[in-house]
Amino acid sequence: MYVCLCHGFTDGDVRGALNGGCRSVAAVYRHLADRPQCGKCVPEVRHMVNQHCRGSGEAMCGGAAMPAAVAAQAETA
Ligand code: FES
Repeated sequence: MYVCLCHGFTDGDVRGALNGGCRSVAAVYRHLADRPQCGKCVPEVRHMVNQHCRGSGEAMCGGAAMPAAVAAQAETA
């Protein structure tokens, strides 16, 4: 499924960036497209980054510490 129509990247591309080490929305854009154009895809990319970080249990995500409730949830998952 296309996530970003301006740059033509898909959810698979975003997952690839996350699996390759990207840990923030900015890092995903740097990896795939330099920067957003219209920005309509940013909420979906942010959602995917948050999902990935929750699933991996990493304490740092999105360039800032995860909210305590999210970090605690990740530790118990
Ligand atoms: S849809 Fe991604 S920048 Fe426009």
